[in-house]
Amino acid sequence: MNRNRHQETTEITELILDAAAKARAEIGVVSKQAATGKSAKWPIDCTIGPGLEGAIACESKVGYVNGSAGLLSYRGYDIFELCAYSTYEEVSYLLLHGHLPSAEELEAYEQKLVNYRHMNQTLRLLMSFPVEKMNAMAALRMGTIFMRQEFTILDQEEAKPGLDDAISADEDSIAMETKPSGERRAIYEFKQKKQRKKKSKKSNRDDASGLEACYHLIAGVPTITAAITRLRQGMMPYEPLNELSHAGNIFYMMNGRRPTPIEERVLDVALILHADHGMNASTFASMVVASTMSDIYFSVGSGIAALNGPLHGGANERVLHTMREVGSPENAKKWVKESLAKNEKIPGFGHRVYKTYDPRARILGPLAKFHCSGCASDIQNLINTAEKVEDEVISSLAQEKKIFPNVDYYSGVIYTRLGIDPAMFTPLFAVSRVAGWTARVLEYIQKNRIFRPRALYTGTFNREFTPIDKR
Ligand code: ACO
Repeated sequence: MNRNRHQETTEITELILDAAAKARAEIGVVSKQAATGKSAKWPIDCTIGPGLEGAIACESKVGYVNGSAGLLSYRGYDIFELCAYSTYEEVSYLLLHGHLPSAEELEAYEQKLVNYRHMNQTLRLLMSFPVEKMNAMAALRMGTIFMRQEFTILDQEEAKPGLDDAISADEDSIAMETKPSGERRAIYEFKQKKQRKKKSKKSNRDDASGLEACYHLIAGVPTITAAITRLRQGMMPYEPLNELSHAGNIFYMMNGRRPTPIEERVLDVALILHADHGMNASTFASMVVASTMSDIYFSVGSGIAALNGPLHGGANERVLHTMREVGSPENAKKWVKESLAKNEKIPGFGHRVYKTYDPRARILGPLAKFHCSGCASDIQNLINTAEKVEDEVISSLAQEKKIFPNVDYYSGVIYTRLGIDPAMFTPLFAVSRVAGWTARVLEYIQKNRIFRPRALYTGTFNREFTPIDKR
């Protein structure tokens, strides 16, 4: 910056320099040693590691991952049991509420999902953008933000909540053609337990203080995902069918036909397996945003953004492209050898936490094989190639580096068999993970503390400012 640039505001420059002199007099010259390195323990002892590896960010009762034993449970229930006996509806309820629903609770929850799946107004907003030309995850993130009625009512000045305002219903309770009106507080606003009003017998407003928005998202993100699928094909979105299950509706809205029982179950199991997974990058991203007391739609939008990366949810799409590149089981050995020689990471393998076989891949592998048996030769070729690549990677890396298939490895094969476009694999991951994101966010904000880690400064100190004409 040129000192002359501030000729007309020299008083301000003086003022800043005075403040600086005062500060330096009070603080003294900070040496590198005093602020970094081992002294970074002040004010608390902390672990310093890139990627916060091993750091504990919070307590949680939502789910448990044991990476060395290969265990995964949601609210204490083993993932294998949940996949064997439960449904995504039950599992998402379990994650949010902490217990499996009774028959009555499940019926009421399913009815909420039925209602919230219809999102004409959000879809109308979405369709006013060239979604077909967008990255599918970008479109999903945009659609999720539209769910919070940005351009409808709740961000408008007159919609700002008064202190005693109640929680309102979802945007889609507002008819599409009517002028925006309604109650003034957004359902997406976070409320900590202590702020909630006592539940009266007549009212379910307590739910609206956070849970209602979670239901809205769990039901709505699939509708947006399916609409994006259709818009990418140049087609209009399908309306959800009220009599279908969550998985059944996703399949229907994406493919335009009702699933067979096998297709519905396969998708349901895949959804259960992706619903939650500890303090992964997208969950952490959602929680960081929530911890600022932003809102749950922004929070889930951040989860979607983080999930998009090829090191996280974006790997499932890459796996499919990799299999196409390998071409056939016969090429697997050569392809793996060459990739490893180039030090490339093979999509769908390895995990920050699992140093053994990922339990989700233990289910998805056989499920893919089962669902692909007897089908068209290209799908057969895909699964055979995937199995051969797995054998090759395991024999090269399992013992030495503890590299095994992860959840993304077989999900792409399964989704391809279900007729889903590879560009929609990662959005489909988000469709499921929204349950984990919302459950963990809701849990965390009950005792919220804004996330604020520190960085270990490794730069230089006490550099003298050089005017631009002397640089
Ligand atoms: N293929 C080949 N080698 C691998 C792979 C892989 N997929 N993953 C890790 N390795 C090797 C690394 O090269 C490294 O070797 P080195 O010690 O000789 O340098 C060693 O294993 C340790 O790997 P890191 O990258 O340090 O492991 P990290 O925990 O940081 O990364 C990650 C985990 C990001 C998932 C990594 O394994 C990877 O990039 N995998 C491919 C992408 C992928 O499948 N992501 C989905 C993960 S699951 C999920 O997010 C839903």
